Amino acid sequence: MAFKLMQVCFLVSLILSICFSIALSRPLDNELIMQKRHIEWMTKHGRVYADMKEKNNRYAVFKSNVERIELLNSMPAGRTFKLAVNQFADLTNDEFRSMYTGYKGVSTLPSLGQTKTRAFRYQNVSSGSLPISVDWRTKGAVTPIKDQRSCGCCWAFSAVAAIEGAAQIKKGKLISLSEQQLVDCDTNDFGCDGGLMDTAFEHIKATGGLTTESNYPYKGEDGTCNSKKTNPKATSITGYEDVPANDENALMKAVAHQPVSVGIEGGGFDFQFYSSGVFTGECTTYLDHAVTAIGYGESTNGSKYWIIKNSWGTKWGESGYMRIQKDVKAKEGLCGLAMKASYPTL
Ligand SMILES: *[C@@H]1O[C@H](CO)[C@@H](O)[C@H](O)[C@H]1NC(C)=O
Ligand SMILES: *[C@@H]1O[C@H](CO)[C@@H](O)[C@H](O)[C@H]1NC(C)=O
Repeated sequence: MAFKLMQVCFLVSLILSICFSIALSRPLDNELIMQKRHIEWMTKHGRVYADMKEKNNRYAVFKSNVERIELLNSMPAGRTFKLAVNQFADLTNDEFRSMYTGYKGVSTLPSLGQTKTRAFRYQNVSSGSLPISVDWRTKGAVTPIKDQRSCGCCWAFSAVAAIEGAAQIKKGKLISLSEQQLVDCDTNDFGCDGGLMDTAFEHIKATGGLTTESNYPYKGEDGTCNSKKTNPKATSITGYEDVPANDENALMKAVAHQPVSVGIEGGGFDFQFYSSGVFTGECTTYLDHAVTAIGYGESTNGSKYWIIKNSWGTKWGESGYMRIQKDVKAKEGLCGLAMKASYPTL
């Protein structure tokens, strides 16, 4: 009898333990899979953490980002773009914003608050005469995607890309120009702590131009101005003009003629993890980032977009570029891209 009871007890406990382990295994497996993904991601992006504590903290951020990315990507109709677990996946959105953007809002540069109205040379271009699509890459006016790394000098990359384009259009030769010259020498702006394209254009005009990327290479951190390296100049500019604010049609006239520097709100979650498609994601008009509009176009089904060149390397977006919805209801443009656009004149 006692023997039988023991047998029954054993059987019951066996069944219970099997039930428990089945119940537990799913979440445990998911956690293990996520940990494995984090380690693979670290290898892929060469990320090393100081200690276990940091690794655990970063893992928590990674997991929360991955889960949100997958949730958003799984949403049905209405999402015209995809997110991806990219090189920014172990950064909170606040960290990302403070490390990878760098556009100074007008309020932080009081001297620029009252921008003089300058002529807009494309004002009288008739909208009907503009091409349906423009892509300055196909015309050889865009250098390969660059990477600002964790230095908030998007403003320098934006200004330089616009000048590279204008110089190619004028002289027929594409030359990669120096951002580091601006980071180190442009005292109108704040290097890795941020700046504005218009003040950069003013500095470039006043100091005779920009040298080449190879002559004054990018370091990704603030440095002291090496005035010897700023020569020889590869190109000079005669000045710059602002595109009338809050007018995507005016922006289109300008982009049809040359790449244009634009301020944008690029620090949001959707922007951080954008990977492909026409971006229609969440953002505000609080400009915190700068990019260069290098074209525009229309999808086969008629949805219109701008093509922007970013400075976060080729792993972000469509090989470093983004297509972003054009002609939205808000006059500021999506993410405020029509608020502060300007271009150099040569
Ligand atoms: C066109 O395609 C975009 C992106 O694929 C989609 O979001 C949009 O709803 C489509 N528009 C029409 C009119 O079908
Ligand atoms: C545009 O046309 C008006 C009227 O003809 C003229 O006064 C103005 O100077 C033109 N603007 C530019 C930028 O050419």
